[in-house]
Amino acid sequence: MLILGVDTSCDDTSASLLRADGTDIEVLSNIVSSQSEIHTKYGGIVPELASRSHMEMIWPVVKEALGGHGIEEVDAAAVCMGPGLIGSLLVGCSFIKAMCYARDIPLVAVNHLEGHLLSAFLTGTKPEFPFLTLIVSGGHTSLYKVNGYCDYEEIGRTRDDAAGEAYDKVAKLLDLGYPGGPVIDNLAAKGDPKVAGLPRPYLPDSMDFSFSGLKTAVRLMHEKRGDLSNEDMAAGFQASVVDVLVRKVKRAIKEFGVSRVSITGGVAANSELRKRMAAMCKGLKADFYLPPLEYCTDNAAMIALAGYHRYQKGEIASMELNPKAHMHL
Ligand code: KG4
Ligand code: ZN
Repeated sequence: MLILGVDTSCDDTSASLLRADGTDIEVLSNIVSSQSEIHTKYGGIVPELASRSHMEMIWPVVKEALGGHGIEEVDAAAVCMGPGLIGSLLVGCSFIKAMCYARDIPLVAVNHLEGHLLSAFLTGTKPEFPFLTLIVSGGHTSLYKVNGYCDYEEIGRTRDDAAGEAYDKVAKLLDLGYPGGPVIDNLAAKGDPKVAGLPRPYLPDSMDFSFSGLKTAVRLMHEKRGDLSNEDMAAGFQASVVDVLVRKVKRAIKEFGVSRVSITGGVAANSELRKRMAAMCKGLKADFYLPPLEYCTDNAAMIALAGYHRYQKGEIASMELNPKAHMHL
């Protein structure tokens, strides 16, 4: 069947057309229109500007995703209903609801986190169940045990800032622009992680994460040590984030006896995290699944895929569907 997926949860307008038949998945298109240029001068996302830009881009992006296919060929339309920025979510949900109503297409509501969680299935080598997934993005840092489609166990989550949020806030503090992740990633490669000597928020008694204290430690260090280069500060901050993420996943592999791991979300694009997580998995003889960058950051192919599995379970949404800013899986 052909599934159209749409994601407008944050600052990317995305639409995708997916052909799915059991475990046979083919991404026919995955169009992403980024708003980074709009938000960079503010050092973070301005929600009102985000929803206005989604309104301008939603139809061009959906049209491009459909390619040569007509709307009448679409068997179901999946839309991200949350979590995310409510104004942004409303644009995607309203658009898809109108389309489904007008063309009598089944509507499927998708949790953004489920999309990220299933993104490892969008590529050639698909993990077997159960596997562990670390979702690390601007809005989320959560670790799940994935037992099967639609069967997820949350093992840990951030108690405050998401890892990507910490990257963005540290970049704002150092005046490096938005999004902060890629800039800090590049600077860190040229710095010495030991110079700043930042703490590691391990939370040893828990599988949860916490990054807001680390962000404060960077601010205090920045105030105290004006002589520290951005490269050394970036390297110190990144080493701390990556150490914590890798150590928690390592612990989960041992505690849950699951030796398959995937990471996803924008921070999964981080060069140090990819390298360190791969090395840790190799050391434990665990299989490591890393979706390509286009499926790590926000994209609608993952929404279409999650929508396909919800559709298979008969979960059709009504026209009363309303997006939600806060949702768990
Ligand atoms: O998954 P995503 O595109 O959107 C959300 O669902 O939040 O993730 C965006 C986040 C931003 O915080 C951005 O700074 C971070 O991912 N990011 C990175 C890198 N590339 C993007 N963080 C660290 N290193 C990177 N290379
Ligand atoms: Zn996301």
